[in-house]
Amino acid sequence: MGKVHIFDHPLIQHKLTIMRDKNTGAKEFRELLNEISMLMVYEVTRDLPTEEITVETPICETKARVLSGKKLGIVPILRAGLGMVDGILNMIPAAKVGHVGLYRDPETKQPVEYYCKLPEDSQNRELLVLDPMLATGGSASAAIDFLKQRGCHNIRLVNLIAAPEGIERVQKDHPDVDIYVAACDEQLNDHAYIIPGLGDAGDRLFGTK
Ligand code: PRP
Ligand code: URA
Repeated sequence: MGKVHIFDHPLIQHKLTIMRDKNTGAKEFRELLNEISMLMVYEVTRDLPTEEITVETPICETKARVLSGKKLGIVPILRAGLGMVDGILNMIPAAKVGHVGLYRDPETKQPVEYYCKLPEDSQNRELLVLDPMLATGGSASAAIDFLKQRGCHNIRLVNLIAAPEGIERVQKDHPDVDIYVAACDEQLNDHAYIIPGLGDAGDRLFGTK
């Protein structure tokens, strides 16, 4: 079963608390999501392999380590996952970016796909799927399905807030996928929103409500 990594770093928790506040506006919300994504990527990539190369400093030649192994790709789930892209690209500028468009039907709560465009060599990349909210887990699980149908198999899921239901769903559907979250909240409400959560991430990010 995939591991769940929950970040309890004080900086991440502080910033997340401000995001939860309903009085935080779209500009600050965007900035905070960007900053948290940047901080999270540090831990998400902790186990990436490195190799030794020779480098010449102004003083002498020495051996030092650089990233090796598979190249990285990031796949935001539209729309809200877009808010995590820049923070991660700041840290991993060479990563390629794919997009999966999904929205959750308000009646059925089921994910509906409307877009998918991935880098040509995604099958050979280590992919980070991004979405701030993991509620029922339907959207994340469907996005990972799309990636697997296209031959991708090295996948990590990065969320800001998860509900236990969403974690359980992804672990069941995709036991090979590790999940990285800033916080695991209590449960879902009747509309499948996370309690306490932060409301609708897409709307808060883009000011659409
Ligand atoms: C939100 C969120 C996730 C999904 C989570 O997107 O960004 O993609 O809901 O819910 P789930 O785990 O129950 O599937 P939404 O469908 O509201 O679309 P949006 O990002 O375009 O606003
Ligand atoms: N999508 C959101 O944006 N927020 C939730 O709490 C659940 C799904």
